[in-house]
Amino acid sequence: MAASLLAFAYPASAQDALRSEQVKSGSETYARHCAPCHGPRMADPEGAPDLRKFPRDQRERFLTSVSKGKNSMPPWGDLLKPDEIDALWAYVAAGGKN
Ligand code: HEC
Repeated sequence: MAASLLAFAYPASAQDALRSEQVKSGSETYARHCAPCHGPRMADPEGAPDLRKFPRDQRERFLTSVSKGKNSMPPWGDLLKPDEIDALWAYVAAGGKN
């Protein structure tokens, strides 16, 4: 949390540019693989949790749940590359903007 606040405190930095690239590619991956259950742009999920409420300080949990799956959620680790899952996290942590 502190780290992400720090990142936002430096506008127009290379890190911000990278971040917005990630959010964009994350939103595309999300639309393709996650929206059917978690809802378009994370709104109105169908039987899956509302990812807008996923705790922003639990990146590790996100990466683990997404790559290994959780209960009725399928694992994505074989289908998506680690950097794609990272981009999904950037998208989710940004609250579904973009
Ligand atoms: C087939 C429907 C389905 C799809 C597709 C799906 N999910 Fe899920 N997801 C679920 C369900 C159901 C849960 C609730 C699992 C539980 O806690 O029992 C869940 C839970 C989660 C959680 C919370 C895990 C936790 O630790 O509590 C995250 C994060 C998540 N999904 C991300 C994603 C992402 C990112 C994608 C796209 C790559 C995705 N999901 C695609 C059904 C789906």
